[in-house]
Amino acid sequence: MPTVEDRARSSMQERLENFRALLGPTPITPVTLNIGGRPRTIHLKLEGHNVAGSVKARTAYGLVRSLLEQGRLQPGGRLLESTSGNLGIALATLARYLGVSFTAVVDPLIAPECLHRLSELGADVVTVTERDASGGYLLSRLATVAELLEADDSYVWTNQYGSPENPAIHRELTGPELLGQLPRSPDAVFAAISTGGTFSGISQYFREHSPGTAMVAVDIEGSVAFRGSPGRRHLSGIGASRPSGFLDDSLVDHFAIAGIYESAHYCRLVLRTAGLHLGASAGAVVAGCVRYLTRHPETDLVVCLCADGGEKYAGTVYSDAWLRSIGLEPPPEADAVPVASEDAILSGVG
Ligand SMILES: Cc1ncc(COP(=O)(O)O)c(C=O)c1O
Repeated sequence: MPTVEDRARSSMQERLENFRALLGPTPITPVTLNIGGRPRTIHLKLEGHNVAGSVKARTAYGLVRSLLEQGRLQPGGRLLESTSGNLGIALATLARYLGVSFTAVVDPLIAPECLHRLSELGADVVTVTERDASGGYLLSRLATVAELLEADDSYVWTNQYGSPENPAIHRELTGPELLGQLPRSPDAVFAAISTGGTFSGISQYFREHSPGTAMVAVDIEGSVAFRGSPGRRHLSGIGASRPSGFLDDSLVDHFAIAGIYESAHYCRLVLRTAGLHLGASAGAVVAGCVRYLTRHPETDLVVCLCADGGEKYAGTVYSDAWLRSIGLEPPPEADAVPVASEDAILSGVG
């Protein structure tokens, strides 16, 4: 006879599989930009169309599935994670779906829209206030996670920075979905990095099934997620205060660092050109892609993974006042491609 606990566990398993049906396939759409006087088409994979509004819904599913399989998350359990926003919203959604609780450790860079969503979803929110030595908040958030785990052993930490399930789910879901949506193997795929999980998993899949595709990782100035130098960062989502444990040279063919100006410019350009509202990391990824296309005129089929949509960025990259508040002039509307400033800021794309 199954016990009450057995029944509760299998009902959670069933609900998790129902959640799986809410992940992708997300659309891929071509957008044509005038690059160096020539129309070039970039395919955008719009991960904002996932449940909970970002690529991190896939990550949340992978992390929680493994905790359930290992018996570490039980009915009535308490999930805990350090998050810049998107994974928190995804975990808060999944926690509600499964009937467990969720505590998000966040920092002041989180968008007000994310905080609002977390609160609507019933998540407990702990906000750190101290920047870490690298100019970000990640290490402060992780120190707070460690304190919470120490103080209360009923917390279950999903650990997006260390769990192999983070890249594994993108190898299992995101990579095959992306490749299967294209008429042929793409020449290059571009994605933003923070934990590096999304990029790593997709790249692992492509190495096996489309080895001719150049895999291009895009980071933001001030981040040390892959090769960058530490500095003050103003955007959430993209970048990290410590190197990704999921990335190495075998998975990254090219690497680009974009500045906030480039992110803002390409978010706004794609909005003006195609009416698509991209998140800040996607703007940075498009900037890296444009730079690559300029250097590789023969490149034809390229895909940018756009982690989320623009709704959470009204107060950052889409705001002239915010750009001025961090010492940047808003990008001019008329400029299709500000090549000079790209040269100054984007680096490392071979
Ligand atoms: C908007 C956005 N872009 C990119 C990323 C990077 O994803 P990953 O942590 O898998 O490297 C994140 C991660 O939170 C994100 O929220």
